[in-house]
Amino acid sequence: MRLSKGSFRGSHWVFLLSILLRLIFAQGDTNSNDAAALNALASNWQNTPSNWVGFDPCGAKWVGISCNSKNRITSITLSSIGLKGTLSGGDIQNLSELEAIDLSYNPGLTGPLPASIGNLAQLLNLILVGCSFSGEIPAAIGKLSNLKFLSLNSNKFSGSIPATIGNLSQLYWLDLAGNQLTGTIPVSDATNPGLDLLIHTKHFHFGVNQLSGSIPSKLFSPNMTLIHVLFDNNNLNGSIPSTLGLVKTLEVLRLDRNSLTGPVPANLNNLTRLSEIHLANNHLNGTLPDLMGMDSLSFVDMSNNSFDSSTVPLWFSSLPSLTSLYLEYLNIGGVLPQTLFSGSPLQTLRLRNNHFNGTLDIGTDYSNQLQLIDLTNNDINAFTQIGGGYNKQLILIGNPVCNQGNTFPSYCKMTVSAPPSYNTSKKCITLPPTCPSGQTLSPNCQCAYPYSGTLFFRSPSFSDLSNNTYYTQLEQGLKDKFLQYQLPVDSISLQNVFVDAQNNLEMSLGVFPSNKTYFSQVDVTGIGFILSNQTYKPPPTFGPYYFLGQEYSVFIAPAPSAKKSNNLPIIIGAAAGGVVLLVLICLSILIIRRKKTTRLEEKSQSFASWDPKSSGSIPQLKGARMFTFEEIKKCTNNFTETNEVGGGGYGKVYRGTLGNGQLVAVKRAQEGSSQGSHEFRTEIELLQRVHHKNLVTLVGFCFEKGEQMLIYEYVPNGTLKDSLSGKSGVHLDWRRRLRVALGAAKGIAYLHELADPPIVHRDIKSSNVLLDENLNAKVSDFGLSKSLGADGKGQITTQVKGTMGYLDPEYYMTQQLTDKSDVYSFGVLLLELITGKKPLERGRYIVREVKSLLDWSKDLYNLKNLLDPSLELTTLVGGLKQYISLALRCVDESSAERPTMSAVVYEIEKIMRQAGVNPSSASNSSSAVGSTGTPVRHPYESDGPSDYSGDVAYPRIEPK
Ligand SMILES: *[C@@H]1O[C@H](CO)[C@@H](O)[C@H](O)[C@H]1NC(C)=O
Ligand SMILES: *[C@@H]1O[C@H](CO)[C@@H](O)[C@H](O)[C@H]1NC(C)=O
Ligand SMILES: *[C@@H]1O[C@H](CO)[C@@H](O)[C@H](O)[C@H]1NC(C)=O
Ligand SMILES: *[C@@H]1O[C@H](CO)[C@@H](O)[C@H](O)[C@H]1NC(C)=O
Repeated sequence: MRLSKGSFRGSHWVFLLSILLRLIFAQGDTNSNDAAALNALASNWQNTPSNWVGFDPCGAKWVGISCNSKNRITSITLSSIGLKGTLSGGDIQNLSELEAIDLSYNPGLTGPLPASIGNLAQLLNLILVGCSFSGEIPAAIGKLSNLKFLSLNSNKFSGSIPATIGNLSQLYWLDLAGNQLTGTIPVSDATNPGLDLLIHTKHFHFGVNQLSGSIPSKLFSPNMTLIHVLFDNNNLNGSIPSTLGLVKTLEVLRLDRNSLTGPVPANLNNLTRLSEIHLANNHLNGTLPDLMGMDSLSFVDMSNNSFDSSTVPLWFSSLPSLTSLYLEYLNIGGVLPQTLFSGSPLQTLRLRNNHFNGTLDIGTDYSNQLQLIDLTNNDINAFTQIGGGYNKQLILIGNPVCNQGNTFPSYCKMTVSAPPSYNTSKKCITLPPTCPSGQTLSPNCQCAYPYSGTLFFRSPSFSDLSNNTYYTQLEQGLKDKFLQYQLPVDSISLQNVFVDAQNNLEMSLGVFPSNKTYFSQVDVTGIGFILSNQTYKPPPTFGPYYFLGQEYSVFIAPAPSAKKSNNLPIIIGAAAGGVVLLVLICLSILIIRRKKTTRLEEKSQSFASWDPKSSGSIPQLKGARMFTFEEIKKCTNNFTETNEVGGGGYGKVYRGTLGNGQLVAVKRAQEGSSQGSHEFRTEIELLQRVHHKNLVTLVGFCFEKGEQMLIYEYVPNGTLKDSLSGKSGVHLDWRRRLRVALGAAKGIAYLHELADPPIVHRDIKSSNVLLDENLNAKVSDFGLSKSLGADGKGQITTQVKGTMGYLDPEYYMTQQLTDKSDVYSFGVLLLELITGKKPLERGRYIVREVKSLLDWSKDLYNLKNLLDPSLELTTLVGGLKQYISLALRCVDESSAERPTMSAVVYEIEKIMRQAGVNPSSASNSSSAVGSTGTPVRHPYESDGPSDYSGDVAYPRIEPK
């Protein structure tokens, strides 16, 4: 933190003097009503920009404020500067010439959006992305008749979508995603407006809410010009209206992750400009939709529905732009045509759990971009590959072709390849320097404080995540756009690319300053606006996106807070004498100095409180966010008892809601417990490296004010332990238990085989397996986890830690830790799942009991008294024998005899099929791997820039 105390003192004197003189002897340039209104607004805010001093925002070029030639305030753009407070009070409406408001990425902004905002008749852009605004979206928003760009995504808005939005006839961008909106999508009737009237709107982004009811048929008409309809991750039901087929302009359609039923309307294939269609995870049925003639389609995902088809439809081999075909867990079959592989730029084919049969013949001129063919669990009985040469991933496990003979070809083996992830490389000519704490090495090998955040691409047209061409285009385009707006940007870094639970392509963005170590506030609000306003338009392959910026708080120097200075004019108005003026100046200087030192202390405090002796350096931040104590206190409602959801030796666990509406679990270390600080740090660093749907996600952490808190995604159904003991009220039948076992096994297999370097969890047990709303398992608590190092030895000697009852006896005796220790603990967990008994209770050890009683020749293998009676198991239950046998192999005394976790995953999937369970709901869809190839063209390339960047001129960027 380089905050020089001396160098700004002189300029403060001059600055302050000039303001005081101006206030007394001349009116400021700014229209006085505007100046008063802005000051009133700012009095509700903390952390306003450092130069917000005085009474002349236009003349004094306040950060984030633009004015027109008449000195009226026309825009407020203040993204990512840590603003806190509310918009309440009637003040904002007095800024009557406002054309643009952007307060994005300030999670400290809370409270409702006041209805008075509807009086801003000139408003064109209203952008409040990633704040914590709550309450209903006011109906008065429908009065903003000039509004073109409305982005309220990633807040906490609740209630229903106001029908009055239908009155915004100029609107072309409507983003309400990532809130808690409920109710139905409003359409017009004789008396009320509705969204069907928005015939100039190109973007309906309503995903990740709780919208319900059916999609009104009236919503769509041929007059509409929509290009993106994103309704994913809601509770919409009913069938897809056939009127959707009338919106010929449509390019991206996401209806996935809802509860839609019935068949897909036949006229869908009139949408010949459609490039991405996502219908996955609904209850759609009927025959597989006919996509013939939809020549722009590149990404098709209709998995997890109830479509059937006994022959392969013709469109499989006639879509010239197809990169990604996902049709998993359906009821479709037939022989795959060779032309599917050669007629399109195919990258990923995911067809697991269907009935594709006959011979798989991919021919010789298959797409050179092809990365993955997953046909797990189909009826393929032969694979011909004329000429050989296909060396990318092919999975035929669970097909008859794998039941022939003893030597399995590679496509019948569980192969595990590294997860694809792009990281911008660093161009260091010499050895890279070690950066001072808090700074990061830029791609050009300079240490600096980057402006960072997360980019979410809602529907890319590709699935090959390893193709660097895509990302270098993105980096270059972003940099060019920033430079075009004279922002001092040196380089762009992208990291940790992955597909998240909402099916967005997510990646961390770092923007590095040019020729300095940190950006100014002007720079930051400028960069933020380019992203929040969609001024930057990504390469067409990436499709629609949104960005969530982090607070950027490394500014040149702290300055007097706006509040103090706002009072000055009033004092001065009352007393005009020269002596009083002098006294005031002295006083003000004192105030400024005091402010400056307290700010300095505040800033360094958060880092200082991280005790390097006990826990090493500050964890490197990537995906996880650092929260302030105040934020966490607020999000858990001051740690109230009603928000308490668990606890243990470590401390308590609270439920909370973040500014963007995300539910989180906050694990708060017991006060004064410094013992856990090593575990704390380990967990942060490990969890940041791993992303898997069966591992609990770390959202962030807080280590302020002597507190140590970890903030995870909220997993609503509690621990597996509580479900088994009946405490949580979740009943797990045999099939559900198999699903839970599969999920947990996949999470652990990921740690062992896909994490780099591999990770041993060391504390696998039923209280560390959490169940989400669909009872999917998520492995948690990485406090004891260890990296196995990249030396390939796969073992380390370490002090024995873990939980009695689950602990691997070999590890206990030799102190040699390998991944097989987790396999042992997992075996105990398997026994716990089937017996419903604690592994170690009153001297009874479950492993010993099962081993001593087991007799394969007897009824229920002689385990009748041990098995959980609520499971109503009989020897006839499919897979029971294999399950017990698997569990016992996992708890073999010799670690070498235990299976690997991927073998366990494979076995459990087999057992599930024997038990008549579709492994679907617990299945993992990781993404395609490895390759190069040319990026796919996306049709909305042709749509011209006006689709993305508002028609509003970019607010003035002040010279520094
Ligand atoms: C759509 O167009 C038709 C005629 O082509 C017209 O009758 C109807 O009012 C239009 N709808 C809207 C919402 O403008
Ligand atoms: C749209 O699809 C329907 C049903 O497939 C068809 O009858 C109709 O002619 C198509 N309309 C246009 C304009 O292509
Ligand atoms: C599709 O599902 C609906 C209920 O959602 C049912 O009424 C209908 O019979 C099903 N159709 C087919 C072809 O299975
Ligand atoms: C594939 O399955 C279908 C439907 O079950 C059947 O009619 C067809 O003969 C099978 N084809 C081959 C090559 O096995």
